[in-house]
Amino acid sequence: METAQHISVLLQESIEGLQIRPTGLYLDGTLGLGGHSFEIASRLTTGHLVCIDKDPFALEYGKQRLEQFAPHVTFVHDDFRHAARVLAELHLGPADGMLFDLGVSSPQLDNAERGFSYMQDAPLDMRMDSTAPLSAYEIINHYSKEDLTRILFEYGEEKYARRIASAIVETRQAHPIETTFALVDVIRSAMPASALREKQHPAKRSFQAIRIEVNGELDAVREMMATAPDALRKGGRLCVISFHSLEDRIVKTSISRRENGCTCPREAPVCTCGFVQTLRSITRKPITASEAELSANPRARSAKLRIAERV
Ligand SMILES: C[S@@+](CC[C@H](N)C(=O)[O-])C[C@H]1O[C@@H](n2cnc3c(N)ncnc32)[C@H](O)[C@@H]1O
Ligand SMILES: [Zn+2]
Repeated sequence: METAQHISVLLQESIEGLQIRPTGLYLDGTLGLGGHSFEIASRLTTGHLVCIDKDPFALEYGKQRLEQFAPHVTFVHDDFRHAARVLAELHLGPADGMLFDLGVSSPQLDNAERGFSYMQDAPLDMRMDSTAPLSAYEIINHYSKEDLTRILFEYGEEKYARRIASAIVETRQAHPIETTFALVDVIRSAMPASALREKQHPAKRSFQAIRIEVNGELDAVREMMATAPDALRKGGRLCVISFHSLEDRIVKTSISRRENGCTCPREAPVCTCGFVQTLRSITRKPITASEAELSANPRARSAKLRIAERV
């Protein structure tokens, strides 16, 4: 098996946040290369760890990396949006802790042929789950100009969204846009010269937007936050590491709605809206990477860890 390099982000902070009990039940919704899972599994005696990833390659790799803990680990190929259902189907009882380390892994980014990178030429793909039907090719060659504009604007916060969407539609009328570099050329052609001089690669925002759409990334986080915390036991911990503001906003507002979602008028003597608190936030402000971690791994720069406890 090819060896892959991935430095787990906020590793110590998230493991501490989980407050692992050696006999507990844990879920890692984003196995990846298994860095976090390895630390969790190595702290268990009679406990159990459920590892989910929607990328079949990640599961293969993770299985080998965690081989020494095999009796205590269950691997599931699924979307973490179904984490609560996965636990229910395994009949393992409520979880003591769950971790979600969002986004893509280094092998996903670095394997040119998976089409995530605007730095390497490859067929347009960007699927984390290679068995999923929707790829970047579909989106770029078949979505309407309006949908492309909306995606680039909302998921990429790209201010030239409309111009880029128009250029995509115009180009594909002549021939399909098949590769990452072909798409980069179209994006460049739609941007003013001033934008091309910015430090950030001109295709960065668009690629982020398309990746989010291909993988349904924001919907997955929303659905996970709506359901997974209910599969925690009282006192159980939820740790979520996000890498951009769109994800972090969902995590933050979902926690605060579960913490204080009462909609009664302020002067009401008792709550009558039916709100039941299910989470307590442990991190008022998200935890970010230390200077030491940043110098070893610049990718940790945008990482934010939020921790909440089931009440
Ligand atoms: C940043 S990596 C995780 C790295 C891991 N914590 C480690 O230390 O090696 C994110 C992983 O989550 C997976 N992933 C992302 N979104 C997912 C989803 N909605 N459902 C399941 N897996 C997902 C990706 O395939 C990727 O392998
Ligand atoms: Zn109320």
